Amino acid sequence: MFYEDQGNGLPVIFLHGFPLDHTMWQHQTAALKGSYRVITPDLPGMGQSDIPQEPMMLDEYANRIIALMDHLNIHKAVLAGFSMGGYVAFSLLSKAPERFTAVILSNTRPESDSQEARINRFRMAASLLENGSVTARDAMLPKLLTGHTLEKDSHRKEMLSKTMLAMKPEGLVLACLSMAYRKDSSELLAGMHMPALVIAGSQDIVTPPEIMEQMAKLIPNAHYAEINGAAHLAPLERPEDYNRILLDFLQKLGS
Ligand code: MLT
Repeated sequence: MFYEDQGNGLPVIFLHGFPLDHTMWQHQTAALKGSYRVITPDLPGMGQSDIPQEPMMLDEYANRIIALMDHLNIHKAVLAGFSMGGYVAFSLLSKAPERFTAVILSNTRPESDSQEARINRFRMAASLLENGSVTARDAMLPKLLTGHTLEKDSHRKEMLSKTMLAMKPEGLVLACLSMAYRKDSSELLAGMHMPALVIAGSQDIVTPPEIMEQMAKLIPNAHYAEINGAAHLAPLERPEDYNRILLDFLQKLGS
């Protein structure tokens, strides 16, 4: 599994979304690595990580993250998950809560897929095999950034598009199937006993702010923050606002 490990201090592990890789966290890595140890893996089958040769449910993605922590001698870390990375975070918190001291859930949702959403994942998987990663790029790009950013910031749009087109379709198919069969994590969240930060984008249509706010209410003592002018990919679209909220949360945890 590909990963980057930068800086020293309290370890923070960032898990990216679909169909993305560790580069979605570039602004958070830059802002944190002076004071924290920042670990940004590419989930199996995505980015520069190899395609797994076994069926992948979210628990298997989580197992690989625990193995990476063991490999890096990280006993405990702060866990940050964005969207699909949030689903992997739920699985990690259910399997090995003792390995995490705090959690940041960004643009994600606790409930499992409806039957309709599941069928759409199968359609996406079929089209990925037929047409390649352009399927995922075309489906996701208009949702990741606001219309305003897509229109005004061609550099960011092109960079994201390139990242998504470079994905291996088979890896994305495994990710689609794992998300289609994910469990509901509401009960897990309601029973959580660690500092939690929930971050939403005001214009996110994939994981709308209403859902994120409800999720934050489920988690005992969670802090909820909404970023104005951000669509789904809030950490990359509004990095300054995002980092301010993130650093404020991390600083309160101490070291
Ligand atoms: C993601 O951003 O990781 C995906 O949109 C999540 C999902 O499709 O449920």
